[in-house]
Amino acid sequence: MRLGIDFGTTRTVVAAVQDGRYPLAAFDEGGEFREHVPGIAALRDGELVVGWEAARALADGSAEHAIRSLKRVVSALAPDEEVAELPGITALELATEFLRGLRRSLVTHSNLEIPADAPLEAMVAVPANSASRQRWLTLEAFRRAGFAPIGLLNEPTAAAVELAHLHLADLAQKKKSPKRYVVVYDLGGGTFDTSAISLEGRSFELIASEGLARLGGDDFDELVLAAAGVAPSAHALERAREAKETLRPTSRKLLLDVGDREPISIDVADLYARAQPLIDRTLVQTELLFERLRERGIDPDDPRELGGVYLVGGAAAFPAVGRALRARFGKKLQLAPQPFAATAIGLAIAADPDAHVMIHEAITRHFGVWREAAGGVDKVFDPLIGKDTAGPVTIKRRYRPTHAIGHLRFLECGALDRAGQPVQDLVPWADVYFPYDPSLADRSELASVPNERRPDLLANEIAETYTYGTDGTISVRIENVSRGYARTYALGALR
Ligand SMILES: Nc1ncnc2c1ncn2[C@@H]1O[C@H](COP(=O)(O)OP(=O)(O)OP(=O)(O)O)[C@@H](O)[C@H]1O
Ligand SMILES: [Mg+2]
Repeated sequence: MRLGIDFGTTRTVVAAVQDGRYPLAAFDEGGEFREHVPGIAALRDGELVVGWEAARALADGSAEHAIRSLKRVVSALAPDEEVAELPGITALELATEFLRGLRRSLVTHSNLEIPADAPLEAMVAVPANSASRQRWLTLEAFRRAGFAPIGLLNEPTAAAVELAHLHLADLAQKKKSPKRYVVVYDLGGGTFDTSAISLEGRSFELIASEGLARLGGDDFDELVLAAAGVAPSAHALERAREAKETLRPTSRKLLLDVGDREPISIDVADLYARAQPLIDRTLVQTELLFERLRERGIDPDDPRELGGVYLVGGAAAFPAVGRALRARFGKKLQLAPQPFAATAIGLAIAADPDAHVMIHEAITRHFGVWREAAGGVDKVFDPLIGKDTAGPVTIKRRYRPTHAIGHLRFLECGALDRAGQPVQDLVPWADVYFPYDPSLADRSELASVPNERRPDLLANEIAETYTYGTDGTISVRIENVSRGYARTYALGALR
């Protein structure tokens, strides 16, 4: 069986591939069918429980410790880092445990008929601006949990696939449809992503994206508690979320019931005023994205070029968000029929060989290296692969060394500042050591060798060739051209 699985911060949603249809998995939760699994883990009697079971433990007070928005917690850590307050459990293990629980629920109490030992092939996704290590962790956790991941997309691309699928029937009418662009605005529980995607027939290309790794509905939950003067805890935040989800565009008061006292009445206008700076930050990112479209000669204000702004993600149901977006985008705004499910359905479509969709994605992060500066002790940043580069690509560098050993410190980041220095969500990759000094050419371990300035090595010429593959891997071949020896390194995020 093939599935599209949107591992979300608040809600994990699963869509199946079934004869050209993409039904959502519904989970039997005490007789009620729910179309998602909550991203919660809890310790109960010393045992780790996840999903609906954890939500229940959190609600009835039987949890000794609980973590909501598990994906947000996990993505802030390196895969082998321990999760605070879950002794002995790493980020990778927590994600694996959650997905193992999801697999069990799919088999034992969902509406999908899945034999216990059926291979489950899954198309999965991560937020567009995710670091490589989060991509690795996601795939690895799915694998360890007993799924067979068949591909990893960026969440907004999946939503664009779903949008296009809604319109494929009319597209098929026309012989040749022109290339169109759509901007996806995805405000979820934990992350904000906005991406521009081009559609041409059944071909999709992610061409640019911006986003904020830590902005979503969770932040509105915190504001609800702040407005009510209640200290945040996993339990209180869940109550705040439930209250927030009852908001309607006409609401003036919001009642928060945390259980241990009289319900607190919150002035909705005050709540929206608190939320406005966060909403503004998402709009700034969207403007940045529009700017990038203009740089490519696409006019986002021309409806023939930019078809629409597609609104997905649950947090877009927060009335203050809808209002701000309507004020900015007017008629361009298109609301997903099922804002929670767009990503999962898009993933299922992408997983369906009969849907014949072709997807091409650009790099969503900057990748580069810190090098020794020629003169002093300073390091200079060399941006090797810019954000939004469409692979595969090969990059070359040639230079003369000033030190005995090349110590290359690779990293990725979300943005570069005006001076070209890395900023925003920096993630270091594993270091690489290369012997510039020919007398060290046969030595395998170089990290412990003291590095010194060696003006005499200027006679050597070094060539670096970086290869960025379509599978997202980066490797580098470094060669001392003058002396004819080389090494090749597979580069990877620290894990
Ligand atoms: N009616 C509503 N009003 C306000 N907020 C809502 C409403 N319904 C859902 N939300 C909020 O939407 C968020 C969840 O959205 P969604 O399911 O798209 O996120 P996710 O996919 O789990 O997270 P992410 O994509 O960031 O990993 C939660 O913060 C939830 O409280
Ligand atoms: Mg989401």
